[in-house]
Amino acid sequence: MFKPAIFVIFLISVLVPFGSSLQGEAPPSPSDISDQCAMCHEDKAANLQGTPHALPAKGKLVGPGIKVFCQDCHLNPEKHLEDPRVETAVRAADMPAEQMLAACAMCHSSRHVTELAEGNPHLSGGMTCVSCHKIHRPNEPKLLKAASVDLCLGCHRSVSETFNMPSHHPVKEGAFKCVDCHRVLSAFDSPFSIEGTRPICLDCHTEYDGPFPYEHGALNDYTLEGHGCSTCHEAHGSSNGRLLKQPSQTLCMQCHTVPRHFTAHDGIWAKKNCEDCHADVHGSYWNQKLFSQDMVGKPCFRAGCHSL
Ligand code: HEC
Ligand code: HEC
Ligand code: HEC
Ligand code: HEC
Ligand code: HEC
Ligand code: HEC
Ligand code: HEC
Ligand code: HEC
Ligand code: HEC
Ligand code: HEC
Repeated sequence: MFKPAIFVIFLISVLVPFGSSLQGEAPPSPSDISDQCAMCHEDKAANLQGTPHALPAKGKLVGPGIKVFCQDCHLNPEKHLEDPRVETAVRAADMPAEQMLAACAMCHSSRHVTELAEGNPHLSGGMTCVSCHKIHRPNEPKLLKAASVDLCLGCHRSVSETFNMPSHHPVKEGAFKCVDCHRVLSAFDSPFSIEGTRPICLDCHTEYDGPFPYEHGALNDYTLEGHGCSTCHEAHGSSNGRLLKQPSQTLCMQCHTVPRHFTAHDGIWAKKNCEDCHADVHGSYWNQKLFSQDMVGKPCFRAGCHSL
């Protein structure tokens, strides 16, 4: 994990010899250094304009905000300033992942950032901030390399196909983004895990939040792979309707054996989907067997054979 204090010592240790090589003169200020950079790399300074990393305006009182200089990201510039060639340059692309993270983390400490530093699968996959962000001349909001969903799908190609399945979340259609579920940004406990699934789903599907007087035990059942909503639903896409992991009867009969359902009434109902009758499968406000209210008038109950 990145330790800011160590980084600061490291930074001083590279800047001090640089200062002292000027034989007694005061070491150049940060803006002296970046002014030099900007003089030779005018285009790079110019294309930061309008982004939060623009050099502080010269001759103006700058507000209380953080000032960003070239060498905050292109670390250890002294060699290059003495001998400005490609070989001595501090290219962002060549910086080791840890150094890059450390540079960005100097100013950015949101959960999004610390999480990456603390073992988000993206970091163990060898990525850094600039795998997703582009600092100079960004085309997209939040300095992203590509539009948010395209960015994710560019690397996660197998995932892309799941969003073409007959039933799918309308992410490619632009209704919402991968990061609305995969909380790369928030203080959510565990953004990629299944444990987080239920609260994430309920953010949008609030009608299933309950509390229901008659809950469906399936939501708190751990016998199958998945938990909460993932017990029955795929998150991305499915060949079954309503994002279901299995066709209706197979899905329910993983946990319920209902032999009488297939023999009663000479089996005339046996071909129906379970939720055709047990429609309040997410929990019921009014009866234990998860029937919907419009079942009340149906002959099976009217005749008094079955109770609600
Ligand atoms: C005296 C002019 C000069 C100064 C000052 C200077 N550079 Fe350079 N820089 C060059 C030259 C020449 C190259 C070689 C490639 C080129 O022409 O872009 C280069 C190359 C680079 C490269 C690699 C470009 C590439 O396409 O691979 C980076 C990054 C860079 N400089 C950053 C900086 C930074 C940051 C500073 C300030 C700390 C700085 N430079 C100061 C002249 C300069
Ligand atoms: C917030 C961090 C940051 C700041 C500030 C910054 N750069 Fe960069 N720079 C990068 C990153 C990251 C890249 C790689 C391409 C990209 O993301 O745009 C890059 C790319 C470059 C390149 C092309 C060669 C390469 O490394 O790929 C040059 C040259 C360069 N920067 C010069 C400058 C100069 C000059 C300044 C100051 C005016 C500056 N940069 C300020 C992060 C920064
Ligand atoms: C010297 C300080 C500093 C450094 C170093 C720095 N940034 Fe920033 N960055 C800022 C400031 C200030 C803002 C504007 C306020 C904010 O959004 O936090 C900003 C904003 C951003 C934003 C949001 C832009 C938006 O439109 O909302 C992104 C993305 C970003 N920085 C990425 C990076 C990356 C990646 C690095 C490392 C290559 C980096 N920053 C290094 C100071 C810095
Ligand atoms: C896997 C891709 C990815 C990586 C890696 C990544 N980001 Fe981001 N970042 C995003 C996305 C996507 C957003 C914008 C989400 C949205 O609002 O739509 C974002 C937003 C941001 C923002 C603005 C919102 C905020 O939290 O303040 C900052 C700043 C930022 N990133 C900095 C960084 C830094 C610094 C790193 C490296 C430590 C980094 N990012 C690594 C994808 C990434
Ligand atoms: C530059 C390529 C790249 C980009 C862009 C990218 N990822 Fe990843 N992603 C990876 C790599 C590499 C891993 C880690 C290896 C793996 O498990 O596939 C990973 C892992 C993941 C995982 C965990 C996978 C698991 O099996 O546990 C999720 C979830 C994920 N990424 C979502 C996203 C989202 C959402 C975005 C867009 C904000 C995104 N990724 C952008 C390359 C990328
Ligand atoms: C509706 C919420 C939701 C959306 C939207 C979503 N995901 Fe997921 N994603 C999940 C959940 C939940 C899991 C874990 C489920 C599992 O493993 O069965 C997951 C698993 C993953 C995984 C790891 C397992 C795998 O299938 O490879 C990756 C990678 C991933 N998502 C990437 C993405 C990308 C890229 C997008 C956007 C195009 C996206 N997700 C959109 C909820 C979502
Ligand atoms: C960011 C909001 C959002 C989140 C988070 C979300 N959904 Fe959705 N969900 C939607 C939207 C929008 C639709 C499409 C509704 C429509 O087409 O009318 C949808 C549709 C569905 C459908 C019906 C699909 C169909 O083919 O009819 C199911 C089932 C579903 N979501 C389950 C889930 C589950 C399970 C999760 C958690 C893993 C989840 N949703 C998370 C917004 C979300
Ligand atoms: C026991 C299995 C099961 C569990 C657990 C489950 N669902 Fe469902 N869900 C279904 C079935 C079956 C349907 C289809 C019912 C229908 O078409 O009326 C469905 C339909 C849906 C729909 C589409 C409703 C519509 O009218 O189009 C959404 C949205 C949904 N579920 C979200 C969720 C959320 C959110 C959770 C977690 C809180 C969840 N489900 C948990 C079985 C389940
Ligand atoms: C992961 C296992 C699991 C799955 C899958 C599942 N259930 Fe359940 N279901 C339970 C548990 C646990 C209970 C509560 C304990 C009990 O009464 O058996 C329950 C209770 C019920 C009840 C009330 C039973 C009673 O006597 O009060 C009905 C009706 C029901 N489920 C229908 C369904 C339907 C329809 C499906 C498919 C859409 C389904 N279940 C899928 C685990 C599951
Ligand atoms: C035609 C309507 C209908 C369909 C379709 C249906 N059920 Fe039922 N189910 C009932 C009725 C009516 C009862 C109440 C029986 C009683 O209490 O007399 C019941 C009761 C139950 C019970 C409570 C325990 C029991 O055996 O009485 C469970 C669990 C259950 N059904 C699960 C399912 C599953 C799983 C499916 C799909 C394979 C399904 N049901 C399909 C009407 C239906």
